[in-house]
Amino acid sequence: MEIEIGYRLQRDFWNGGLATEAARAVRDHGFRNLKLEYVISLIHPENYPSRRVAEKNGMTLERETTFRGFPTFVFAITRTQWMKLRGEGDERLISKAVPQLRDRFPKPGACFEGS
Ligand SMILES: CC(C)(COP(=O)(O)OP(=O)(O)OC[C@H]1O[C@@H](n2cnc3c(N)ncnc32)[C@H](O)[C@@H]1OP(=O)(O)O)[C@@H](O)C(=O)NCCC(=O)NCCS
Repeated sequence: MEIEIGYRLQRDFWNGGLATEAARAVRDHGFRNLKLEYVISLIHPENYPSRRVAEKNGMTLERETTFRGFPTFVFAITRTQWMKLRGEGDERLISKAVPQLRDRFPKPGACFEGS
């Protein structure tokens, strides 16, 4: 059995690093807590943002297949690769989410000011 990490985000929030951050958290949960040996992401070849998220999630293109009638790239990462990544610290790839969210949302509590 293969376990897939998939992602879909409301368009307003694209390109802020959120999918990457979420995908990494799911990946880490899979390896750390569920003790998986291998996780994949199934991606349409022309879905470049999704491919990039998979890459930033430490995955590499493993093979091409057909899934539900569509051409599909299978990106994957093994437990061994994940452990190596963690040793090197994939923090260097950390997302841009935090500063972007800071810009987009009020300071904590600000939404209640004046109410
Ligand atoms: C795929 C999706 C979840 C990505 O979410 P996101 O939060 O915008 O992703 P991130 O910001 O973490 O990363 C997106 C990356 O793609 C890159 N990117 C965006 N558009 C791109 C394009 N046209 N070509 C190449 N790269 C692109 C961004 O620059 C970013 O990479 P970077 O950090 O190196 O600059 C979002 O676009 C989405 O919900 N799409 C519709 C649903 C979908 O396609 N889901 C995947 C099914 S397999």
